[in-house]
Amino acid sequence: MTYKAAVITVSDKGFRGEREDTSGPNLVHLLTDKGFDVTYTSMVPDEAEAIQRELCKCADELGIALVLTTGGTGFSPRDITPEATLAVVERLTPGIPEAMRAESMRITPKACLSRSVAGIRNRTLIINLPGSKKAAEENILAVIDPVMHGLEMLLGEGSADCAR
Ligand code: MTE
Repeated sequence: MTYKAAVITVSDKGFRGEREDTSGPNLVHLLTDKGFDVTYTSMVPDEAEAIQRELCKCADELGIALVLTTGGTGFSPRDITPEATLAVVERLTPGIPEAMRAESMRITPKACLSRSVAGIRNRTLIINLPGSKKAAEENILAVIDPVMHGLEMLLGEGSADCAR
């Protein structure tokens, strides 16, 4: 089964063309390697409305199974990606950010500074990742295999068999 995916880069500087986005393209590459069909990418500033609009478009119009955001999960006053995500998801999937942080803490203690959240809107799973290429990659690789099983359940009819 091939799932549609989207990558949304959240960055004021990227949006203004002041910083090259290396994290977004790297996530596209990683997802493609894992067999996803990345059908949508975009770049938005650290503005709640713009982030929410992109997430809703992916979930409600484009039928994307997995949306990864990169950036805006830290402590800077403009880091509001988690809050924008919480405003649009219907069900939380806390195990995903818990696992990403637990695995990332083995790499750097600064991993606890990512406020990333994840959740489900309709049949779309949304996962926040940090903004740097390295951090985003380390976080998504920690969970991508179980996430694919989660997508089977989310997109399947009835209940998927977990006893495997
Ligand atoms: N997680 C991993 N695996 N590796 C990292 O280098 N950097 C941390 C954290 N998570 C990091 C990580 C740092 S320094 C910050 S500030 C937060 O992610 C938030 O990053 P963001 O503001 O770019 O979203």
